Amino acid sequence: MADKSKALYPGTFDPITFGHIDIIERARKVFDILVIAVADNREKKTLFTIKERIEMIKKSLKNPSEIEVTTFDGLTAEYAKSIGAAAIVRGIRAVSDFEYEFQMALMNRKLQPEVETVFLTPNETHSYISSSLVKDIARRGGDVSCFVPDIVKKKLSKKFTP
Ligand code: COA
Repeated sequence: MADKSKALYPGTFDPITFGHIDIIERARKVFDILVIAVADNREKKTLFTIKERIEMIKKSLKNPSEIEVTTFDGLTAEYAKSIGAAAIVRGIRAVSDFEYEFQMALMNRKLQPEVETVFLTPNETHSYISSSLVKDIARRGGDVSCFVPDIVKKKLSKKFTP
């Protein structure tokens, strides 16, 4: 039986940005328990290991109570069911996100009809942030302070320092 107060926020989080944190804070207002799960998505080449991504998420949370940070492989819908989450939280930053997210939500519903997808919108000041752009800026020595927490900024600069 799904717990109506529990939601899953899945993603690659390579790395976590202020946009993700904004969604996490909004999700906390709606759900009592939030499970942030880093997908072990081997098809997507990542800069950070799963361990590093989890550590950065944990260190970026201002109020970590009732938030679990973990990883999963396999299907998101199955994982949501297995932990008893009633919903999968996803952020929609712009219209361009919608088609992909809509398709994924319908597919997840087909796979696991009891789990609903809930879309949240970040503050407009975060709507243009993406992990790839942040990595691109950091790789070229640009300042990413406006986009990621300090811990992530430090980890990025460590990765890109020869
Ligand atoms: N603020 C800032 N950036 C955001 C954001 C927000 N609120 N929401 C998403 N993004 C960005 C991410 O930074 C990422 O940017 P990038 O592509 O430049 O790296 C991009 O949007 C997408 O990120 P994310 O939310 O992590 O989604 P994803 O597409 O990488 O991962 C999964 C989606 C993991 C949920 C999906 O692949 C999945 O469910 N995988 C498991 C296997 C499965 O179930 N497959 C069937 C699916 S129907």
